[in-house]
Amino acid sequence: MSLQSIAKKFRKPKAEVSPLFYTRWSPRAMKGKLTKSELKSLFEAARWAPSAFNVQPWRFIVATGKRKDVFTDFLVDFNKSWCKNATALVVIISRINSEYKEKPNPTHSFDTGAAWLSLALEGARKGFVVHGMSGFDYKRAKRVLKISNKYKIEAMCAIGKLGPSSVLPKDMAKQEKPNQRKKLSEIVSWNGTFDFK
Ligand SMILES: Cc1cc2nc3c(=O)[nH]c(=O)nc-3n(C[C@H](O)[C@H](O)[C@H](O)COP(=O)(O)O)c2cc1C
Repeated sequence: MSLQSIAKKFRKPKAEVSPLFYTRWSPRAMKGKLTKSELKSLFEAARWAPSAFNVQPWRFIVATGKRKDVFTDFLVDFNKSWCKNATALVVIISRINSEYKEKPNPTHSFDTGAAWLSLALEGARKGFVVHGMSGFDYKRAKRVLKISNKYKIEAMCAIGKLGPSSVLPKDMAKQEKPNQRKKLSEIVSWNGTFDFK
């Protein structure tokens, strides 16, 4: 079953929206390998994300093959256990200042989030696993990769070919299904006032 058809079984949108959005989800089961050109198209999607003044603060540090072992060392044990079958592990960083006059860019994280989602949506559209992670040692990643203070580490993600849930440890396999979301009324204030808990 494809990533999208699994999502359609679990997720029912409450307003008219492209399936692109609600059929993206984050599986952990991976088997086989994606090609370089398959990976490349995901970063191409990220490249076209919008950003304030079009400064494009996102950067992606990609590890495949043997180099993946170095990135695996950053991960908490829970993530290590399912990431071993990923084709690529990626550290997503953002440039804190705009390259234009080196002024602080207040939206560097916001814009990098947009690029990450573009990557994830393109991955889901192609039926690939793209799974975001904050469960890793940020300091270690900064030190080992020698990431300069000009950049903030935002997150990591695992990218790979979707596999059967049987490749996962039993507990994890049980959780291998698309989850739900808050109600629209919990995230949108229609009357233009701040009325959130
Ligand atoms: C920034 C970020 C960090 C995340 N960190 C982890 C993680 O460390 N380990 C993990 O298994 N999932 C992680 N996730 C996956 C989320 O739990 C998942 O995206 C969320 O439950 C929504 O589910 P969905 O992506 O399947 O729609 C992370 C997702 C994001 C966006």
